[in-house]
Amino acid sequence: MVIETKGADAPSARAFQQFIGGQWVAGATGETYERRSPATGDLVETIPWGGVEDARRGIDAARAAFDAGTWSKAPAAQRAQVLRTVAAKLREQLLPLAQLLSKEVGKPTNMAIAEVAMAADVYDYYAGLALDIRGDAITNYAPDAVGLTVHEPVGVVGVITPWNFPLLLISWKLAPALAAGCTVVAKPSEFTAGTTFELARIIAEAGAPAGVINVVTGPGNVVGAELAASAKVDKVAFTGSTAIGKTIMQAASGNLKKISLELGGKSPNVVFADANIDQAVGGSFFGIYLNTGQVCQAGSRLLVQESVKDEFMAKLTAFTKTVKVGNPEDPSTTMGPVINEAQLEKVVRYVHLGEEEGAQMLCGGGRLTGDAYDRGLYVQPTIFDHVQNSMQIAQEEIFGPVLSVMTFKDADEALRIANDTVYGLAAAVWTKNIDTAFKMAKGIQAGTVWVNAYHSAGLPYMPYGGYKQSGIGRELGHEGLEEYMETKAIQLKLA
Ligand code: NAI
Ligand code: MG
Repeated sequence: MVIETKGADAPSARAFQQFIGGQWVAGATGETYERRSPATGDLVETIPWGGVEDARRGIDAARAAFDAGTWSKAPAAQRAQVLRTVAAKLREQLLPLAQLLSKEVGKPTNMAIAEVAMAADVYDYYAGLALDIRGDAITNYAPDAVGLTVHEPVGVVGVITPWNFPLLLISWKLAPALAAGCTVVAKPSEFTAGTTFELARIIAEAGAPAGVINVVTGPGNVVGAELAASAKVDKVAFTGSTAIGKTIMQAASGNLKKISLELGGKSPNVVFADANIDQAVGGSFFGIYLNTGQVCQAGSRLLVQESVKDEFMAKLTAFTKTVKVGNPEDPSTTMGPVINEAQLEKVVRYVHLGEEEGAQMLCGGGRLTGDAYDRGLYVQPTIFDHVQNSMQIAQEEIFGPVLSVMTFKDADEALRIANDTVYGLAAAVWTKNIDTAFKMAKGIQAGTVWVNAYHSAGLPYMPYGGYKQSGIGRELGHEGLEEYMETKAIQLKLA
């Protein structure tokens, strides 16, 4: 199934094939893509650089599997058992999966271990929900009638995923899709496709019938675009940039397929003077620097109340200077490289732009060079103070370890700044005052608001998604399962 490549470059680098209809098959174009480590430049893996034909083969396999009913009409207990087995296998294979994930993304190994463990939890959660899909009885609209609602799987789902949390974000889609009885064609990012192929292998080994999970790789604007446009696909679930989300929404209109889009953010992280300042410093640090800032919900706009600004920024800047940027395999590394050259250029461009726009750099400053840094794509954690919310560094998603800092006088001003954005994915508020906490939590236009926490662990229990241009639909929780089901109203007239 997986072929070992030879050569000094990287003895463990694997060549994956497309996974279609339960088989490993060569890509139709014969071309391949080499993924090189963002930390060292070494070869990590090769994947097929497929075309429209690969996408169509994947779609046909998923369509045939769905229509055959072996999964879509399987007893709930069978689907739940497969999902529980996926969770168990992810835990059994935690270390090799985390090592591959770490190589692909460049994230420190302990972070990759956490991601695999969190992904496993998602399958267990939806195994539980799969057992409890239930409709309603509506019995009061007429004396001689009974109304029932039943939920049915939506059908074939196209899943298009990014590179920042490749195993977790795809699991947010696959677990509820499989729980509902859907079949899937997944198009992972070419930078991190190996872990998705491994996940497909695990799902098949766990007992999902052939064609229930298919993985095809190739250019996003070819393979991904075909999934979004195909009339044989009933729903597309996407995580990635807002720009591509809009493209997918347009392509999906051809057959009015259902969409769920989880897109970008510029999330406000609001610190009030009455907060536990040390906790807020720690949370703000984690909020912006996790995964080298490559997080859709990163707390990239820090709003600090004027009276505690100096104390807060002194602590946060000192903490930031302790970050150890380096090779993700080194256990002392706390921040790995960025994902690819385009992302490196983007971060460096915004750091220059911040200076041009007149913000004051407190620490950081772009690319790290010299010695081992020259082999990879490393940037410094960077803080800009005296930012105006109208600046590009406050309005545009940088997707790197770059923090924009502003101040506010009171809750009304904080709310005005927090909501002055096209995005609405997440936000955090730090305060000990319950009135302030609820005023902010209710007033912020975002799909998630944390109080006295950042990136905290309500997942997979709580729904996740964006207001405004941060997306459409919700993942996780009960809402995340509903996205993969239709509702049918059955009306019985008593004779
Ligand atoms: P992207 O949005 O281009 O890629 C995401 C996925 O969409 C990938 O699998 C890609 O191959 C696919 N894709 C690309 N073009 C497509 C098309 N026309 N039709 C269908 N699928 C297509 O994101 P990219 O280029 O990797 O990163 C650019 C920026 O996007 C980042 O700097 C960041 O701001 C944002 N981003 C946001 C993420 C999030 O979690 N919300 C994740 C990754 C990126
Ligand atoms: Mg792109």
